[in-house]
Amino acid sequence: MEKRVASWEKLRQDTLKRLGPEAVFGEGSPDARVAIVGEAPGYNEVRQGRPFVGRAGKLLDELLAQSGIEREEVYITNVVKIRPTREKGGRTSNRPPRVGEIREGMEALLKELELIEPEVLILLGNTPARALVGKSFAMTKHRGTLFRSVTGTPAVATFHPAYLLRQEGEDYRRVRRLVLEDLAAARRALEEEPELHELE
Ligand code: URA
Repeated sequence: MEKRVASWEKLRQDTLKRLGPEAVFGEGSPDARVAIVGEAPGYNEVRQGRPFVGRAGKLLDELLAQSGIEREEVYITNVVKIRPTREKGGRTSNRPPRVGEIREGMEALLKELELIEPEVLILLGNTPARALVGKSFAMTKHRGTLFRSVTGTPAVATFHPAYLLRQEGEDYRRVRRLVLEDLAAARRALEEEPELHELE
């Protein structure tokens, strides 16, 4: 356990040294049974140096609590450790990460997951799902299904909370229901021997 914490701390420091002080590394219990993987940090995450602390993070905490999963008992991280940004009209905004950024982020992510050894992965959005389950992952078709991820660990993907925040009215309620169903599937995988699917 102590050895695991020391290895994790070394990986964190090495990653921050390699990617720069604005990089946001994962956080959470070193013996977490669940690891949650998002896409990339945003403005608030870079400011605080912690993953999922902005609006999407607050909604994620609420959804986890509603599913009987406490944030304190999970490990939470992102595929990409640096906020991908674009400049337009003097304003900085988020943009989807590029292939090279995903590849670079995966180096640290795979080592993080190897150290934490979670029993199930919850993948938020297409970026982590395609990186860890397979390139042909399609959210509407494959969400909620337990797949064998590239690490060998069972993984369930669901809609990103930032996507849920963009929905309104009945759409919001529908997507929220689906996310809760998918989180429940991840939780069940901790209790029963899950049947794993392979992405063709
Ligand atoms: N969205 C993500 O994918 N990750 C974060 O850490 C914050 C927002």
